[in-house]
Amino acid sequence: MPAVSRAFQIPTPTGNVAIVLHEPSLTEDNLGLKTWASSYLLAKRLHSIDLTEVDPECQRIVLELGSGTGLVGIAAAAVWGVHVHLTDLPEIVPNLASNVQTNKDLTRKSGGIATTGVLDWSNTAKIPSDDGCYQIILAADPLYSPEHPELLVQTIDRYLVRTAKARVIVELPLRRAYAPEIADFKQRMCDLDLEILDQGEESGYDDWGGGENGGPKEVRCWWAIFGCRRPGGVFLLMSSSAWCSPY
Ligand SMILES: C[S@@+](CC[C@H](N)C(=O)[O-])C[C@H]1O[C@@H](n2cnc3c(N)ncnc32)[C@H](O)[C@@H]1O
Repeated sequence: MPAVSRAFQIPTPTGNVAIVLHEPSLTEDNLGLKTWASSYLLAKRLHSIDLTEVDPECQRIVLELGSGTGLVGIAAAAVWGVHVHLTDLPEIVPNLASNVQTNKDLTRKSGGIATTGVLDWSNTAKIPSDDGCYQIILAADPLYSPEHPELLVQTIDRYLVRTAKARVIVELPLRRAYAPEIADFKQRMCDLDLEILDQGEESGYDDWGGGENGGPKEVRCWWAIFGCRRPGGVFLLMSSSAWCSPY
């Protein structure tokens, strides 16, 4: 895939906005340099997620993990008019930060702010001021290796505030090869006392071929909204297995 800049139409409460993203040419493992089907689907879904329940006193409201080119996080800032912190690996963040800058006026118009930073899920070093301070965590297409479920869920555990208003919102492509990672992710979320409040499936497109006649490839995706089963409560390991099912 060569480098490209393109605009994504995203619905907001006041009409569609066009988020312009630069995608450098794809190199080896740097999957975050492209915008994937599930992130476009999730970005378009955000306006239907009611944030009136969000605690206005929480200063850092939204954290995005594995932001890639930034579509979901920038859309969240524009749709919800809140502060969204977009994060990824060090090699992905320069392009991410540049995309946030490109769309700065658009997010500002809605009263939102988007910031960027490095957040490597495998870095378990504690930053006390950041612990448990986000009310909403977003992630699109974050699981494509056997270690990802554990790394992602341990990061969610660390950054998510445990209140009735806490939410983890994910959208994942249902690639057959990664079915074990998705099942593992669901189980680990359940083990953290996070339950699925709403979920569904929808289809999108990865648009660099692989489909019929070299056209865009249809990708079936699963989205889910998790909340705390027992906000602020004590987690009882013994009894959790009774309600934890990966399906
Ligand atoms: C398939 S891409 C999805 C990017 C974007 N969310 C999207 O859907 O377009 C997966 C993203 O997870 C990031 N990622 C993978 N391992 C990571 C880790 N250990 N810590 C932080 N981010 C990671 C990658 O750099 C990449 O941006």
